[in-house]
Amino acid sequence: MKITAGLLGEHAVFYAQFDHLDQVLPREQVIREIKAQGLMLESALAGHANIEEELLFQALDLFPEATGPLNVMRMEHEEIEGALGRIPELNGIEESRSLLLHVVQVARQHFAKEEQILFKLADQLLGDTKLAELGLQWAERRGVMV
Ligand SMILES: [Fe+2]
Ligand SMILES: [Fe+2]
Repeated sequence: MKITAGLLGEHAVFYAQFDHLDQVLPREQVIREIKAQGLMLESALAGHANIEEELLFQALDLFPEATGPLNVMRMEHEEIEGALGRIPELNGIEESRSLLLHVVQVARQHFAKEEQILFKLADQLLGDTKLAELGLQWAERRGVMV
């Protein structure tokens, strides 16, 4: 199985979580609930971004044509991580709500760029054998049998 297939499956699960957050956050009245959702999203997204960076992005670093998209993806990982890291320090409920909703929006756009540009580029540049080898590493890290 190609690593890009594994990562796409992870995106699909995140989309369900993003939909849920978009639905419940606007009417949440308790700040600690918003912060708890932020922490859950932070840990899930960190795991996803780390795997992307350590397996897929590193393999793509060998190809100059991937440099531009990789720079954007890494920058967006930092932006998302940084914004989620600020939520625990906020005191206002509206501020916390709008920052978390903003992160959801940025993450959706980031995922779409990966799907439309980066994963397609990886499929072209890395070839089936390398993608499958990375897919095995992905499965091992995630603890799934393929
Ligand atoms: Fe990413
Ligand atoms: Fe991703």
